[in-house]
Amino acid sequence: MKHLMTLADLTDTEIAHIFAITEDLKMKFAQGLREPLLPGRVIALLFEKPSLRTRVSFEAGIGHLGGTAMFLGADTGFGKRESLADFGRVLSQYVDALVVRAFRHTTVCELAEHAACSVINGLTDFGHPCQAMADLYTIRELVGKLKGSTLGWVGDANNVARSLALGCGKVGMDFVIASPKAYQWSEDEIAWIQQHAPNLNLTVTTDPVEAVSDAVAVYTDVWASMGQESEQQQRARDFAAYQVNAQLMARAQKGAVFMHCLPARRGEEVTDEVIDGSQSVVVQQAANRMHAQKGILAWMLGKTP
Ligand code: CP
Ligand code: NVA
Repeated sequence: MKHLMTLADLTDTEIAHIFAITEDLKMKFAQGLREPLLPGRVIALLFEKPSLRTRVSFEAGIGHLGGTAMFLGADTGFGKRESLADFGRVLSQYVDALVVRAFRHTTVCELAEHAACSVINGLTDFGHPCQAMADLYTIRELVGKLKGSTLGWVGDANNVARSLALGCGKVGMDFVIASPKAYQWSEDEIAWIQQHAPNLNLTVTTDPVEAVSDAVAVYTDVWASMGQESEQQQRARDFAAYQVNAQLMARAQKGAVFMHCLPARRGEEVTDEVIDGSQSVVVQQAANRMHAQKGILAWMLGKTP
C-alpha cells in the first residue's frame, strides 16, 4: 500500500511514471475522453482548512476516472470525537484512498499509520506534495526539460517551498531560495531535505536577485500561510523586500515564467502586473493540479492506462 506524505515517498522513476500517466490523461481529457480507471472506487477528502484548488481538482479528477469523491468536513468530528487512530482505522474500511488537508503534518502521518488504505497529503504545515508534482509537471511542459534547470523561490521557506525543493532534488533541478534570515530553514530542516533528495543542488540566500538570476521559473507564495494569520502584519513588514514585481522579474532569465500556487495576496508577495502579466503561468499551474492528481491516483491505486 502506497502513501504520499511528502515527495520523499517517491523515487525519480516513480515521478517520471506519474508524469507519463498525467500526460496521457491530460491529452485524452483535451479530446473529451474520460478513461474510467477507478470504477467503483471511493476516495474521501478530509479537510481541516479551506481549499478551492485541491478539493475541487480532486473531486473533478476522481469523477473523470469513474470514481466517487466524498468530501468530509468538520461534521465528522475529526480530531474531536475519537482518537485519530480510531478515526483512520474505521474510515479506511469504507474508502479506497484518503486525501487529507490538516494543520499539523503529524495528523496526516498518524492517520496513514493506522489506515488500511492509501493516504495522500493534501497540504499540511510541512508540505504540499500534490502542488509540487503539478508545478514540476508544468515546468516540464513549458521548458521541455527539468534536469539542469533552476527554480528560484522568493519569500517564505514554507510548506510549498519545502515540497518543491525535495521535488527539484528528485528530478535534477537546482533550487535557489531567498528568504529573510529569520525565516530560512534551520540546519536540521536542510539536513532532512538533503537526506531525502541527496542530489539536490540547494542555494539558500537572503538576496531575491540571486534567487531569480538563473531561474527558468520564479516562484512565490503568501508570506503568512494558513494557521499563521496572527503573524500576518509582522510578516508583511519582514518580507517587504521580497515582493515579486516587474523590477525583480527583469533580473530573471529571458523567458522565465512566474509561478504561484494560489491563492495570492496581490500587492504583497506579488504585484498585479506580474501575476497578470505575460510571464505568469498561474492558471496553467492550477489546471495541472487536476491532471497531476489523476496521475497520482491512477499510479497509487494501480490502475494505469
Ligand atoms: N494551491 C492550493 O492548494 O490551493 P487551495 O488551498 O485552494 O487548495
Ligand atoms: N503556503 C500556503 C499554501 C496554500 C495553498 C498555505 O499553507 O496556506
